Amino acid sequence: MTNTFPSIVLERNDPATPVYRQIADAISSAVQAGTFPPGCRLSPQRDLARELGVNLTTISRAYAELRRLGIVVGSPSRGTFVRYQAAADPDFRSGGEEFVPHDPRFIDLSVNAAPTPLYRQYLAQTLLRLADDPRFAALEDYQPAAGPSWARETGADWIGRAGQRPDPGQVVVTAGAQAGLFTTLAAICRRDDVILANHVTYFGLRALANRLNFRLRGIATDEHGPLPEAVAAACADGEVRALFTVPCLDNPTATTIPLARRVALADVARRLGIYLIEDDIYGPLLAERPPPIASLYPERTIYITGVSKALAPGLRVGFVLPPRELTGAIAEVVRETTWMSPPLSMLIATNWIEDGTADRILDSHRTELRARQDLAAKLLTGLNFDTNPYSTHIWLHLPEPWRSTDFTAQLQARGVRIMASEAFATGSSPVPHAVRINIGAARSREQLRTALETILATLAQRPKLPSAGAAP
Ligand SMILES: Cc1ncc(COP(=O)(O)O)c(C=O)c1O
Repeated sequence: MTNTFPSIVLERNDPATPVYRQIADAISSAVQAGTFPPGCRLSPQRDLARELGVNLTTISRAYAELRRLGIVVGSPSRGTFVRYQAAADPDFRSGGEEFVPHDPRFIDLSVNAAPTPLYRQYLAQTLLRLADDPRFAALEDYQPAAGPSWARETGADWIGRAGQRPDPGQVVVTAGAQAGLFTTLAAICRRDDVILANHVTYFGLRALANRLNFRLRGIATDEHGPLPEAVAAACADGEVRALFTVPCLDNPTATTIPLARRVALADVARRLGIYLIEDDIYGPLLAERPPPIASLYPERTIYITGVSKALAPGLRVGFVLPPRELTGAIAEVVRETTWMSPPLSMLIATNWIEDGTADRILDSHRTELRARQDLAAKLLTGLNFDTNPYSTHIWLHLPEPWRSTDFTAQLQARGVRIMASEAFATGSSPVPHAVRINIGAARSREQLRTALETILATLAQRPKLPSAGAAP
């Protein structure tokens, strides 16, 4: 069975989305919408090239991309078919919350993903020439747990972009910022210690609380971030070990803490003698950012950053800058868990930070995020949301009578995934009826537009009330 092809409108001058990607996205959306059911055969490549007025190689690339994403199977000689698995198992996340990147049945704006394909293009080139790098031999051996000296230099350079370049000997290289957070908390926390965080905070911190058996305590915030007086009040019982904060483009609220609040938080943490864990993974996305809290309270701040948001999450490179006396303890946790971070990733990141490739990728992400933010601002006019021109997140406050989990469920039924505020709740205190929309995760601007229009259409509906089990 070959289904009629949906009409594809190509934007030939769109610098961010090459034509083959536009075609792949259109087909992927048609699979999601059920226009192309499982088993259906796509048009032969030559026919489609003729119909769309593009080269055969463009169609071949589009089909190859769809094969790579697991949406179709086959080859030019056998024909290309929509995969069965791609449209089955509607509840695939219920058991174990397995994350399937780029699941073709949904526009998935619930995850963090690079907003442009530049990373992949550079990676393909870099891998071809990496053997010429004098540090290539390091890829064979065990390395010091904190990272080889050249990778710690890279970390010092990357951290130095936020302010002062630190001593590389103080830096620990980790396999991503989450690993940096894990090693930090494992090094400083004892069972049942309390860690303070915003009432809605980064999900990965909650996961670590469960694993490492520390307790999370929510603190009040305003539009500038955590309230220093709330930090002081939460420390009254003496059980608090650290304050966790995301100083730039907070996940999920997109707040950037201004300098005055950073100073106040540093002061209160110093007065209380608690650690401050500053997770600055989004900082590199900002064209200008206030100095890190670590520079205001270096004695007890552990500064964590990495390349996941600036370049791509798949590279898995993070950097931790603790106070000097903690470097060894944090490196020790790296040794106990993974011996060291993967040298291949460290070498790629080092090459890119040294030769300017990292800046080119980062610039492309920034430009794309700005364009997507403009698009979102136009479409969401009149709604109440928080964001920043360089943020990948939009924190949308839902109008009455919506609750966030009802909204995300109803939206998912229409093929769009976003995150409900409950997913970020530190404890059982009420959280705002809000949702996090990750605009960077859309495969194209067109896909983002479709998702935002679906969000608007869903908001215009009434929430569905549960029927089964409802008491009269
Ligand atoms: C605040 C925050 N910290 C850390 C991470 C994880 O970063 P990485 O991929 O480098 O582990 C994320 C990812 O979403 C995040 O939002």
